[in-house]
Amino acid sequence: MNNIKLLSGEALPLEMHKVKIVQKLNFAPIERRLEAMQEAGNNTFLLRNRDIFLDMITDSGVNAMSDRQQAAMLTADDSYAGGESFFRLEAELQRVFGMRFFLPAHQGRACEHLLSRVLVKSGDIVPMNIHFTTTKAHIRLQGGDILEIPTDEAFKINSKHPFKGNINIKKLELAFKQHKGKIPFVRLEAGGNLLGGQPLSLQNIRDTHAVCKKHGVPLVLDASLLQDNLFFIKTREPEFKDKTVLEICNEVARNADIIYFSARKFGCARGGGMCLNDESIFEQLRVLVPLFEGFLTYGGMSSKELEAITVGISETMDTDVISQGPMFIKFMVDELAKAGVPVVTPAGGLGCHLDAKAFLSHLKQEDFQAASLVSALFITSGVRGMERGTMSEERNPDGTENFSAMELVRLALPRRVFTMSQIKFAIDRIIWLFKNRELVGGLAWRKEPKILRFFLGELAPVGDWQAKLVAKFKQDFPDSL
Ligand code: F0G
Repeated sequence: MNNIKLLSGEALPLEMHKVKIVQKLNFAPIERRLEAMQEAGNNTFLLRNRDIFLDMITDSGVNAMSDRQQAAMLTADDSYAGGESFFRLEAELQRVFGMRFFLPAHQGRACEHLLSRVLVKSGDIVPMNIHFTTTKAHIRLQGGDILEIPTDEAFKINSKHPFKGNINIKKLELAFKQHKGKIPFVRLEAGGNLLGGQPLSLQNIRDTHAVCKKHGVPLVLDASLLQDNLFFIKTREPEFKDKTVLEICNEVARNADIIYFSARKFGCARGGGMCLNDESIFEQLRVLVPLFEGFLTYGGMSSKELEAITVGISETMDTDVISQGPMFIKFMVDELAKAGVPVVTPAGGLGCHLDAKAFLSHLKQEDFQAASLVSALFITSGVRGMERGTMSEERNPDGTENFSAMELVRLALPRRVFTMSQIKFAIDRIIWLFKNRELVGGLAWRKEPKILRFFLGELAPVGDWQAKLVAKFKQDFPDSL
């Protein structure tokens, strides 16, 4: 991807791909969007695609595939055992990660399930830069717990730090002292999802690995969001500016003992897998794959997806390919910041993150600021985002609400999916909403599940603010959907 300057002086990230297959979109009128949001209990997970204009809920399994990926799918060697598609993927993973063993699984959380079963026992503590929802759930399911020790920069909404996803090495050393014998492994997550896609530096991975080696425990790298992280290492960490993406990826892997990934993100298809060198851990994981996932040469994935992942990973080693996501996100973040809209900075990977606490500062966390903002944005634009705030937490053991450190709205930009005019449209509607933010009110539980509340929970508006917001929109945009 190239950043070019127009005659007007405007800078634009220029796509290094062209569109060959498209899907028609539906743009439901605002009255229908309001109705759909009410039916969905103000939870964007419960919307139907036909009511959505731009789907920015996630980048998982919805990145645009390349012509080479699609072509490779036709060459899939469908076979229950011993299919060639598996061996092609295994060889590609050896090229990029250089590890001895590979085990497939149907997606990222399946890897977390199997790794937790093998590595975590009751009372264990797993230090990490930041948790992911499914990671925490699987570690706890085995009776362990997590210890999040990001650096102090991590929760600063606005920072200039290039690697807000780093783990705090001093706190990691301290954790080994405080939890002697209780730490089965250290987990690093590339592109810290719940931090707003903020990356790890390669130096931080090296330092973490040195601590792990000293204490004789493996470093487990969650590489689901490694694609964007590789781009950030190349562009933000001076030591690596002249290295190829493959060289950087090799160096990352040399500093990890186990790498697992969701291929719904890494590899731009749908699936997952684990790579490692340790034969004893490999043997323990190996028997679980046929039990929970599928035979060892497909692991619950279709052979077509195995082929698509292989090509997707090879294309991930191309700077032109991996720069598209971060550069579009940066464009969106910069434009919003220029207009005064509170966004997480610096721009990370995965998507653009709005700071709902500041955006809706007239509301309180009890009003579910992030959920309210997601709901208001969908109603007024047809853009579907994801709540990443208190609704995504679970209640405290005493039943009180567990208020999230940050109230974020995630607007994921699946790679190569949206055009510049669609991004500009989303930016415009977010700015409109920001100017009309006083009209946005709070939400309250209508149906509250005990776990993973953000998937199935339903909320109702407090008062009739949604109708008032629609009325103002219609007044400002009489001829627009
Ligand atoms: N690790 C990270 C960092 C992730 O972002 C995800 C998924 C997983 C593990 C689990 O992988 O979905 O293939 O089982 N993140 C998705 C998201 C769900 O929308 O951000 P999975």
